[in-house]
Amino acid sequence: MSLREKSYALMPRLVQWRRHLHQYPELSFHEVKTQRYLIEQLSEMGLQPRVIGTTGVVVDIGTGPRGVAVRADIDALPLQEEAESVFKSRCDGVMHACGHDGHTAILLGVAAVLAPQEATLPGRVRLMFQPAEEKLPGGAKLLIEEGVLDDVDRVLGLHLASDLPTGRVGIVVGPATANADRFHIEVQGVGGHGSQPESSVDPIVVAAHLVLALQTIVSRNMSPRHAAVLTVGTLTSGSNFNIIAPRAEMTGTVRTFDEQDRQTIRQRMQELVTQLSSAHRAQGVLTYSEGYPRVVNTPLEADAAERVIGRILGPDAVDHPDPLMAGEDFSYYLEKRPGVFLSLGCRNPAVGAMYPHHHPAFTLDEEALPIGVSVLATTALEFLTLNDR
Ligand code: NI
Repeated sequence: MSLREKSYALMPRLVQWRRHLHQYPELSFHEVKTQRYLIEQLSEMGLQPRVIGTTGVVVDIGTGPRGVAVRADIDALPLQEEAESVFKSRCDGVMHACGHDGHTAILLGVAAVLAPQEATLPGRVRLMFQPAEEKLPGGAKLLIEEGVLDDVDRVLGLHLASDLPTGRVGIVVGPATANADRFHIEVQGVGGHGSQPESSVDPIVVAAHLVLALQTIVSRNMSPRHAAVLTVGTLTSGSNFNIIAPRAEMTGTVRTFDEQDRQTIRQRMQELVTQLSSAHRAQGVLTYSEGYPRVVNTPLEADAAERVIGRILGPDAVDHPDPLMAGEDFSYYLEKRPGVFLSLGCRNPAVGAMYPHHHPAFTLDEEALPIGVSVLATTALEFLTLNDR
């Protein structure tokens, strides 16, 4: 049987793993039951899983000087699930709404198809079940600090993609996800009676000016050839209709693909927040936090993945989507080792899989699971036999 056939034969177990994980979702760095379940399942396959990164699991299959690391993120989101199903989340307010249950099941599948042929593998396949992708500073950094990339030459990962039909795989050469930063702005005014603006400094008016001014950064200070986003996600102030509030607060996110753009936006935000506020006699303070850096896929590995995927799924299965503005901590692995991060199509309106990630009704087409297993297992083996650059 080929790896592809073995992956499809695993379908009932893949569904069982995914649905179990879906029913017991856990938040970032709290993946305790998930970790126990993974250790149990991997041990049953005759493997020797180890704990890593507090709530993560790592396991090696095969030996030798060459190594490839394959990653699945295992955490869920603080969200109440909306869709009804027999495997609906049993944890109130927590849900696998990003498809990490699918990623985890797929990586268990990779273990299941590779474990029986451990003795004949051309090197070491290291499976990384990583905690806390959804929450900064993320689990990837921690795993790297604990040495997960020692003796590893290349890295491989995927994310299910709700905008790509099942059966298709997206490959981007170069930057594939954005630098994902966040900011907090505080505007300090002077509170008072709503009828006496002359003795107050109204922070709501200043905040309103700021929201509009911030929108000019991308449109007026950036090259139109470069993609960037600045979104004000929250704006809070005030307690009653006849009170001038003392303070207003905003939070938001900045997404860029280019380091220079990132710094330009940060600099312009700083200028606008402090100077526009002071022009209105208020005080503005910007706190800017850099989040996950961009994912950059390396050409040699992206080409190798495309070859393999074309071979097992047919050349039409490969898609070259635009880079995503989303953030992803797989970037930290790619800063250290060459590799590729793929998009795995899981969209199928016939089974309700048409909602975007992080939506309370998000679900994935389970037919994507065996495809993910064959793609990861075959690409991992291909990476082990790639010539050194
Ligand atoms: Ni995700």
